[in-house]
Amino acid sequence: MPNTALVTGASSGIGREFARYHAEKGGDLIITARRAAELEALKSEIEADHDVKVQTIALDLGSPEGAQELYDQTKGQEISILINNAGFGGHGAFTDRELATDLAMIDLNVKALVTLTHLVARDMAKRGSGKILNVSSTASYMPGPLQATYFATKAFVSSFSQALAGELKEKGITVTALEPGYVETEFAARADLDGTDLTKSGATPRSVAKYGYDAMRRGELRAINDGRLRFMLNWIVPWLPRWTVLKMVRRMQEKSV
Ligand SMILES: NC(=O)c1ccc[n+]([C@@H]2O[C@H](COP(=O)([O-])OP(=O)(O)OC[C@H]3O[C@@H](n4cnc5c(N)ncnc54)[C@H](OP(=O)(O)O)[C@@H]3O)[C@@H](O)[C@H]2O)c1
Repeated sequence: MPNTALVTGASSGIGREFARYHAEKGGDLIITARRAAELEALKSEIEADHDVKVQTIALDLGSPEGAQELYDQTKGQEISILINNAGFGGHGAFTDRELATDLAMIDLNVKALVTLTHLVARDMAKRGSGKILNVSSTASYMPGPLQATYFATKAFVSSFSQALAGELKEKGITVTALEPGYVETEFAARADLDGTDLTKSGATPRSVAKYGYDAMRRGELRAINDGRLRFMLNWIVPWLPRWTVLKMVRRMQEKSV
């Protein structure tokens, strides 16, 4: 049975661990990100350790044709698992931030994810099987002052994923949203989050990838890897007044240094 996973954002962090974990399970891989050298290093490592094939595709998924180009380069291969993991965040007051950076964030976190899902899910629907894992965030549960655009992109990802799960179930496809809290990857430095309370303690990318991958295999709808956060977000935050939530989130994202 073909068992090929397409993993976006596989050159570092959670994406790299998805790729390693899938290979441990004996699955072939198509891995993509912009940094070709990191992808090649991962391919060599995985192919040395496991009896699987790894294809690398280095491209900018956030560019207007990125997702279509990626899909075209996978033509002829049966993708049984799609892991939409590539994404980035960005700290700062919305009006102080460069608009172009926030629009690029929407291009990658939202537009590329929607496009790639559309292309790959159609093939899965024709075959009557497939698994999709979209990497969202605990940020999807609330608005995020000082990371307004990022939180909104992840609210989109979780909403979109659940709606698709509702539509695609009858076609034999499951859709899972992985919603981690802080994870120790390159993400925080890239998003300029160092020095905020958010980055005080985090999970390892390996533990988060494994948790999300296993939840995807079981066909779960939403997966939060941390039990305390899961309880807070499902049972406390929805009952708090919105201004309290906004103040709380803003405080967590203010820099203490
Ligand atoms: N770390 C956290 O605290 C955290 C928490 C919740 C959710 N998440 C989500 O988890 C996912 C993975 O992030 P991470 O924590 O593993 O961060 P990371 O280490 O920065 O990894 C991000 C990945 O996305 C790729 N990427 C970024 N821009 C791209 C572009 N334009 N085109 C193609 N690939 C691109 C990067 O590769 P290149 O730079 O080589 O292109 C990299 O492989 C993201 O969706 C993030 O929002 C992270």
